[in-house]
Amino acid sequence: MLLPQEDEAFASAHGCQPVLATLPYRWPFALDLLKRQWDALPAKRLLEFQTAYMATAPTIRINVLGEGYITTDPGNIEAVLTTRFDDFVMGVRRLGLLTLLGEGVFTQDGSAWKHSREILRRQFARLREDGLAAFTPHVDDLLDSVARASDESATGIVDLQPHFFEYTLATTTDLLFGEPHSSLPQADRDALRDNFDYASHISAIRLRLAEFAWIYRPRGYREACRGVRQWAQFFADKALDYMEEHGEEAASERYAFIVDLWKGMHDRQLVRDQLLHVLIAGRDTTACLLSWTLQVTPSLSPHKPKLTRSTVST
Ligand code: HEM
Repeated sequence: MLLPQEDEAFASAHGCQPVLATLPYRWPFALDLLKRQWDALPAKRLLEFQTAYMATAPTIRINVLGEGYITTDPGNIEAVLTTRFDDFVMGVRRLGLLTLLGEGVFTQDGSAWKHSREILRRQFARLREDGLAAFTPHVDDLLDSVARASDESATGIVDLQPHFFEYTLATTTDLLFGEPHSSLPQADRDALRDNFDYASHISAIRLRLAEFAWIYRPRGYREACRGVRQWAQFFADKALDYMEEHGEEAASERYAFIVDLWKGMHDRQLVRDQLLHVLIAGRDTTACLLSWTLQVTPSLSPHKPKLTRSTVST
């Protein structure tokens, strides 16, 4: 945190322009903005709500419970992510996410972040080399499950979201964890879905509370986080037990990611945390992109999408 005169000196040394746009608010500490976000989240209208922020100006000041900024200015984004990367830290995000995710790219800074990021980068490079064939059985499962749901539905309308979540979870666990999520009993899979959805929802609220994240820990949150962690520990333990029994080389063939994590961490809980970071990175993001792709694909009616192999492969 800089003093005002230091702030000014820093700004003039780096040619920073003042941030003129401020998000208007009515309640003290801009609590009305927080409340509107709070309402938009369960109503699934967050994107719509936040788009209005972005439309105000490329960079705006937002004074909810303290000063913050939102920017869509490409120059600022480039500075944060590349040219001035070392000047920025995660800030209060760690506080909001640590209970659910533990240590990994989304909660770390500095050398710890670089270490986690490098291990993930190696794995993504490996997956790129493997090509798309590994996705085929999961695409087949997705198509089958949507077709079944359509047959069973009285209206013929299918909510695709749970099917996409199941698909992205299956690809993440199979390709990265070396063990498909579908190998778990249905009750465990349902429990993971409920725990993960609830824990992510509460974490999203905690992120918005910034420094005050600690005040919001509803009953059930810790329990849900524990459930998610146990789920990830299952995959970590399975691979590492296999490694202890059969040796590193044999284990690397099936559990390359987890063995690589082990070599970099030598701690089962830290390995588990890394799996959770990949889970949060890959599940909802990719599932939402799939939904959006179907929504904007002109050849598909938005009301009755026909999900076919050719749709999926284009
Ligand atoms: C369409 C799908 C995806 C979208 C829209 C997306 C979006 C993003 C965004 C916005 C970030 C920056 C988050 C932040 O730190 O503020 C991010 C980071 C990241 N994503 Fe994705 N993501 C997608 C899929 C995936 C998948 C499938 C994986 C891996 C399984 C992945 C791995 C990561 C990782 C490791 C980071 C952290 C990078 C870092 O801190 O350096 N993402 N993603």
